[in-house]
Amino acid sequence: MKAENLIRAASGTRVRHLVYISVVGADRVPVKSGIDRAMFGYFASKRAAEQIVINSGLPWTILRATQFHDLLLTVAQAMMKMPIMPVFAGFRFQPVDSSEVAARLVELTLGDPAGLVSDLGGPRIDKMSDLMRTYLRAQGKRRLILPVWLPGRAARAHRAGANLTPYHTDGKRTWEEFLADHEACHE
Ligand SMILES: NC(=O)c1ccc[n+]([C@@H]2O[C@H](COP(=O)([O-])OP(=O)(O)OC[C@H]3O[C@@H](n4cnc5c(N)ncnc54)[C@H](OP(=O)(O)O)[C@@H]3O)[C@@H](O)[C@H]2O)c1
Repeated sequence: MKAENLIRAASGTRVRHLVYISVVGADRVPVKSGIDRAMFGYFASKRAAEQIVINSGLPWTILRATQFHDLLLTVAQAMMKMPIMPVFAGFRFQPVDSSEVAARLVELTLGDPAGLVSDLGGPRIDKMSDLMRTYLRAQGKRRLILPVWLPGRAARAHRAGANLTPYHTDGKRTWEEFLADHEACHE
């Protein structure tokens, strides 16, 4: 695991502070079955990396962020290639701008080791279907949106909001603003 290699390399050096970027829900999305692992193994690997950081013996800070706008854009672009746009039924997201996450990481890195700090979430929580509709509108495209029910405990946890941090809507840039800026850059 990369985190393990990094910490092995850092141990015995003069590293004074490990700062790790994790994901909201790392501790709440259960990854038990094959389908959980196939779809959401990412959450388990982030949790495992968090544990490696915590047990490293080095001073540490961990920030958990919600999904980045860039990730949702990648999903939207891939889904739009299909004549029908599938979305995960009951899923909501709270997309945050990666530049805001990066700025917070810089701030934390320059500060003292702080352990697990407050989550950083985007300014708004929206249904996945609404986020995809906004993307389609911005593109001037139309697609039938098809909700797909995902089985498994990890998906159920997502439907219950395990990937969200409603008390930490600290991100400023909205999905709409991100999409408008992205379009302007690619015209
Ligand atoms: N995307 C999200 O929604 C989200 C949400 C919460 C937290 N996070 C976390 O935030 C971090 C960045 O996410 P991301 O989606 O931006 O990932 P990403 O697009 O895969 O980018 C990862 C970046 O790290 C670099 N990198 C990977 N392994 C490296 C290594 N061994 N040494 C030096 N550089 C290395 C990559 O360089 P190359 O391009 O050269 O490969 C790339 O620039 C990840 O830890 C992710 O788990 C992401």
